[in-house]
Amino acid sequence: MLCINGSGSDKVFKDKCGLIHTAANQQAVDAFETVIDALYRIGTNTGDCLKAVFEADPEMPMAHCLKGYFFMFMASGPLRLRARKAHQEALKFAGGATARERAHIKALGLWSHDDKAAAIRLWDDIVSEYPFDTVALRLGHFGHFYDGDSVAMRKCMETTFPHWQRSHPGYSFLLGMRAFAFEECGDYAAAEKLGREGLDLDPVDPWAIHAVSHVMEMQERRQEGIDWITGHQAHWQGANNFRYHVLWHRALMYWGLGDFDAVLAIYDDQLWDPESDEYADLCNNATVLLRLEYVGVDVGDRWQNLHAKVKARTDEHILMFADVHFAMMCAATGDAAGVRNLIESSPEIGGALRNDVAAPLCQAMLDYRTDACGQAQSTLLALRGRIIEIGGSHAQRDVFELLMIEASIKAGDLATARHMLENRSQTHPRDGVNWNKLADVLSSLGDEAANQARLQASGLLVA
Ligand SMILES: [Fe+2]
Repeated sequence: MLCINGSGSDKVFKDKCGLIHTAANQQAVDAFETVIDALYRIGTNTGDCLKAVFEADPEMPMAHCLKGYFFMFMASGPLRLRARKAHQEALKFAGGATARERAHIKALGLWSHDDKAAAIRLWDDIVSEYPFDTVALRLGHFGHFYDGDSVAMRKCMETTFPHWQRSHPGYSFLLGMRAFAFEECGDYAAAEKLGREGLDLDPVDPWAIHAVSHVMEMQERRQEGIDWITGHQAHWQGANNFRYHVLWHRALMYWGLGDFDAVLAIYDDQLWDPESDEYADLCNNATVLLRLEYVGVDVGDRWQNLHAKVKARTDEHILMFADVHFAMMCAATGDAAGVRNLIESSPEIGGALRNDVAAPLCQAMLDYRTDACGQAQSTLLALRGRIIEIGGSHAQRDVFELLMIEASIKAGDLATARHMLENRSQTHPRDGVNWNKLADVLSSLGDEAANQARLQASGLLVA
C-alpha cells in the first residue's frame, strides 16, 4: 500500500481534486493540471504545457516523470532512451516526493526498461489508493489496452468512478475512458451512452468521440459512423497524431461500405504523413493497405514507402502490437531479414508471450507473403484465441481474421475459407465485403449459393 504521508517535504500543494503534489509552488501544480487536461484532450500543446511546469519548478518530480511517460507513449527506441534519462532526472528530485509520486517514478523506470507489466501493476495500485490520480488512470487504461485486457481496463475505471462527481475537473474524460472500456468489453449500449454523456459535458474529447466510433464500427453502423466522425471533426482535428487514428476509423467504415476509392483517397490525402514515424500511424497505414489488397485493390508502391519508415526499427520492441505490424510491412516488401530481426532480437522480458504469440505472428506475416500460405493459415488459426494478447482493439485486430481467410484462399483451402466467411456473415451480417468474398469462394467451389451471397453483398455495398 502506498501512503499519502510518505513525503518528507513541506513543499506540497493540492490540485483541484485535492491530490497532493510535491512542487516549489502552487503555480507549478496549476500548470501540471493544465498538462493533464491537454493530455486528455490529446492536444498538440501538451509539450508546451509541460514546459510551463518546468518554468514554474524545474525540479518538480512528477514533471520529470510525466516527461518520461510522454516519451514512452510515443513508443520508439530513441525516445525510450530519453524516457530513461527523464527517469534519472526524476530520481534526482525524488528525495522529498510523496509515496504516490515515488511509485510513479518507479513505474517510469520499469516501463522504460521494458517491464510494462510491473509498471501496470503499480499504476493500478496508485489508482486504487488515489482515485483522482488521472495520470495513473490514463496510463493504466493505455497499459491494459496494449495487454488486450479489456476486463482489467474496465475494472480500473470502475474502481475509480464511484469517487468522482460531476463537479470534479476532468469528470467528462472519465466517461470517455469508461465508454471505451465498456466498448471493448462488448457492452455497446452502455459505451455509447457514456461516450455521448461525456461529450455533452465537454465536446473536446477525441477519446470519447473515438469510443463511440468504435461502437458504430462494431455494430456495423458504418454510414452513421462516418457522419458521427465528420460531425465531430472540429473536436478531434486538433488532436495530435491521434487524429490519424480517427481518420483510420472513417476509412474502415468506407471500406465496409465498399467505397474503396474513398479509402484510397483518405489514405493518400489524410492518413499518409511522410513526416510521421509514430508507430500508431504506421499501424493504421499498414492495415488500410492490407484491407485494400483484401478486396483486390492495387496499392502500388505504398508498402515500400511505409516499409522505409520501419526497416531500421526492427529491434525496438516497444509494443508487441507494433512489432507484428512492423513484420506486416517488412513481409509485404520482401524484407525477410527484417521479420527475422523482429523475431530474433526480442528482449527477454515478456519472453513467453513474445515466443508463443508475437514471434509466430511475425513469421505468419512473412509466410503469407511467400509460398507458405498454408503455414500462415495454420499459425493464424492456432493463435486465433491468443491474438488478443498483443493488445489493441477488436477493430484493429480484425485484420488478422481477414488474413486467416485470405491465407486459406491462397493456400487453396477453400473449405476452411468458406467456413470462416460463413461464420463471419453471422457475426457481421451487414458486411458486404464479406458477402462478396463468400460469393467468390462459393463460386470457385461451384456452389450456387454464390448468387445469393452476391445479392446480399450488392444490397449492402454502396459503391
Ligand atoms: Fe480505435
